[in-house]
Amino acid sequence: MPTTQTIHTIAIIGAGQMGGGIAQVAAASGFKTLVCDASSSALGRCRDGHTKRLAREVEKGRMKDTDMQAALGRLHYVENLEMLKGADIVIEAIVEDAKVKRELFQKLASMFPTQILASNTSSISITEICASVGPQGHPERVIGMHFFNPVPVMKLVEVIRGLQTSNDTVQRVTNLATQLGKTPIPANDRAGFVSNRVLMPLINEAFYAWMEGVAEPQHIDEIMKLGCNFPMGPLRLADFIGLDTCVHIMNVLAEGLGSDRYRPCPLLRQLVAAGRMGDKTGKGVYDYSPQPAPVQPGHGGMTSSKAAVGV
Ligand code: CAA
Ligand code: NAD
Repeated sequence: MPTTQTIHTIAIIGAGQMGGGIAQVAAASGFKTLVCDASSSALGRCRDGHTKRLAREVEKGRMKDTDMQAALGRLHYVENLEMLKGADIVIEAIVEDAKVKRELFQKLASMFPTQILASNTSSISITEICASVGPQGHPERVIGMHFFNPVPVMKLVEVIRGLQTSNDTVQRVTNLATQLGKTPIPANDRAGFVSNRVLMPLINEAFYAWMEGVAEPQHIDEIMKLGCNFPMGPLRLADFIGLDTCVHIMNVLAEGLGSDRYRPCPLLRQLVAAGRMGDKTGKGVYDYSPQPAPVQPGHGGMTSSKAAVGV
């Protein structure tokens, strides 16, 4: 089934940091953009973020005011999947949970019978996501379109084909990534693809280094920044990505690559269990609250807004 229609309207499901970023880039690149999330507060935060970040583009002289207004006018926020009808492509950016993604793709297969269905998954098998639409659901139009965080800044889109994905789908998604100002690079469908096969074990190892007392979190991050030219240290980057997402990705690597060396560090899992997901909850490895709470006896230092949270 060739999916030949020109792309005018992009639907994005998931209005978190990734869906929000993809939506901003899509609207700024001239596409009508529909953003859907199960949570109305996530949609509200997403809309506020767009207003703020596009205004910043104008302030910095990277965008004209009229273009900002036009981009904001192309953005539509909806709570219901039904309201995405009419889109020419769907990009899924919901939680990194294979079961939840498969259920969503099953629904999308009948709602969007001919359109490309792309997943922004960090690690989950694209072949399995293709299979979830069923043989009658045209798995050849399902693909991995992996953006990087923060989407407006990062240039890469990792393009992952499942065993069932057609050349036509790969070509059209590659063209779309280029239209969005990104550099598409292909990777094969193995757990974590290339990016997270390499990055996430490094982040996980930084948690082990912290847990084993090799150094304090700030020092681990400074060592990697100053010694390896990382823009952010690995623990700061984990907070930025989301600690829950890091755990999900490590679990996919452990299962998909069949080795215990990919198991998420117990300390990383513990932080997630305590609700400390990183930037998105205001606390992870570090504390981002405007006025950190006073130090609790026996719970380490929280003395500045980016001090590591004691564990
Ligand atoms: N959304 C949009 N723009 C953002 C942003 C965000 N969340 N965060 C920062 N920026 C922009 C800022 O607006 C700023 O631009 P202007 O000041 O010109 O407006 C620019 O980025 C630089 O920001 P800062 O000066 O505040 O800070 P910085 O120089 O440290 O850069 C950074 C910030 C670009 C995030 C940089 O630290 C960096 O590159 N960090 C590493 C990011 C990275 O590794 N991303 C990949 C994560 S892994 C992944 O995405 C895959 C996965 O599946 C998990
Ligand atoms: P996030 O937690 O910031 O946002 C996820 C959003 O999805 C939330 O707003 C949630 O309400 C919504 N959601 C969850 N289930 C839903 C459903 N069934 N229907 C509609 N909305 C639903 O997560 P994120 O960081 O934006 O990650 C999203 C996806 O992108 C994940 O697959 C993740 O692995 C991938 N990814 C993340 C990063 C990163 O650095 N965070 C980078 C690249 C790819």
